[in-house]
Amino acid sequence: VQVDDLALNTGQGGEVHQIAGGDVETLTTQGGTPVSDDQNSLKAGSRGPTLLEDQHFREKIFHFDHERIPERVVHARGFGAHGFFETYESLADITAADIFQRAGEKTEMFVRFSTVAGNKGSPDLARDVRGFACRFYTKEGNWDLVGNNIPVFFIQDAIKFPDLIHAAKAAPDRDFPQAQTAHDNFWDFISLSPESMHMALWIMSDRTIPRSLRFMEGFGVHTFRLVNAAGKSTFVKFHWKPALGLQSVVWNEALKLNGADPDFHRRDLWDAIQMGDFPEWELGMQLFDDAFAERFDFDILDATKFIPEEEVPIRIVGKMTLDRCVDNFFLETEQVAFQTGNIVPGIDFSNDPLLQGRNFSYLDTQLKRLGSPNFTHIPVNAPRCPVRHFQQDGHMAMQSRKGRANYEPNSWGADIGGPRESPERGFRSFPAEESGGKARVRSETFADHYSQARQFYLSQTEVEQNHIAKAFIFELSKVETLAIRSRMVAHLLNVDEGLAKKVATELRLKDMPKPASAKRPTKMDLKASPKLSILLN
Ligand code: HEM
Repeated sequence: VQVDDLALNTGQGGEVHQIAGGDVETLTTQGGTPVSDDQNSLKAGSRGPTLLEDQHFREKIFHFDHERIPERVVHARGFGAHGFFETYESLADITAADIFQRAGEKTEMFVRFSTVAGNKGSPDLARDVRGFACRFYTKEGNWDLVGNNIPVFFIQDAIKFPDLIHAAKAAPDRDFPQAQTAHDNFWDFISLSPESMHMALWIMSDRTIPRSLRFMEGFGVHTFRLVNAAGKSTFVKFHWKPALGLQSVVWNEALKLNGADPDFHRRDLWDAIQMGDFPEWELGMQLFDDAFAERFDFDILDATKFIPEEEVPIRIVGKMTLDRCVDNFFLETEQVAFQTGNIVPGIDFSNDPLLQGRNFSYLDTQLKRLGSPNFTHIPVNAPRCPVRHFQQDGHMAMQSRKGRANYEPNSWGADIGGPRESPERGFRSFPAEESGGKARVRSETFADHYSQARQFYLSQTEVEQNHIAKAFIFELSKVETLAIRSRMVAHLLNVDEGLAKKVATELRLKDMPKPASAKRPTKMDLKASPKLSILLN
């Protein structure tokens, strides 16, 4: 650390002035006017009052007054870093995405890890899902893979997201921060949403208390499409595999770490990168076609389901390295505006109703948070490839087109007329065929809420299963409304009887509830009896 040894001058009131001179630059106002005295406001007489004409004072206070922007409505607490992605092999046969065309290609990246429920000042080791948001600055635009460290999600339809988040965050009357304690609202919502049972098992597992951000897996969660130059589509699930492997702390350690160092995770990532111990993750893809998708006993559009690696192995296609900390947290980590809608030619959405809703939500929320439709002009959000369009003006515009033409089609030549659309190079949505009447429905193929929860629980070692049981006991013991505890145990009976009994015993439930109704048809049932139609929800 270099500490400047400036000549110190003491003013009339004893305040210290550090005077510019030698190599030290002169302080200025925002307007560039050199500042003579930054310790004293302009006064009428030595004892005031302060004069309104003191532009320097007014500007300094005005700017300070407006420093805060709204924190993210979810994932408010996060930590970002720069890095790059290296493509291992050409995937031209599967996708036209430029980033996957050439082995050895390096693409700049920005990544932000986050917790979901806590506010900006909450502790790092809260039991929570971790956001795993990755931006690839590709030659054909920004591709944002805005994922989590858990491969499934709580809900199947984005219309339920505001309720999920309201229930998970502080209750409006008391505003207790959501950190270490469960609360009735959250478990009330979960117990009334059987679709969240699979995720409930994952969040009670050690995955939600990672040892550090460097030891986490990442998942794109949804099924996406890859589309090659010939227009052939392949479904894909994205995975990030940490080079250091997967590690968690135990709950006891998490509690102590939160007390001793609430910034534990961010400090760990910062230190590792600053020391040159760059964290790495390999990118994996599970690839399958429509016919294969039909063979699963669940719907690949349902974000509460994962595709077991035994059924579709993960193909490793490249590596991400984080090698640079941000220069300024606010400019980069706080202002980065990830959007699931940021995709590039060769990558496309699926019809997953959660993903479809997210595509609306992120664009919308960034305007509220960053205050201007020109948030793409902020350097961390600006693509590293040429940007040419006729969108103009608005608050804080920095990139409106030069010249006369600000519309198209126009009759001007290339020099004045500006860019034109390109049917060959431009993004085209995969022309999937859709049919059916308009209705507020949930597909019957989304109906099995317990099988994968059971599969996940049974795949855990005894120690891990024990941690899940203990986490349920701890969390539900904080729920004051006994009916909610019972309702959760009723769901657990459909997952694993042993687990349900252990939780019920430790919670000292008076009566063992009946298993929650699970009379919803699985995809297999529907195949066996196509007429079976049960109203869901
Ligand atoms: C923020 C992931 C579902 C709305 C985020 C962030 C991540 C993420 C990683 C933090 C981005 C950052 O670091 O800046 C996910 C995943 C989901 C999911 C993996 C499900 C698979 C949803 C849904 C909605 C939603 C269903 C709404 C319909 C938001 C909003 C933000 C956010 C509004 C704040 C964005 C900002 O202010 O920058 N999400 N999310 N998310 N998410 Fe989600």
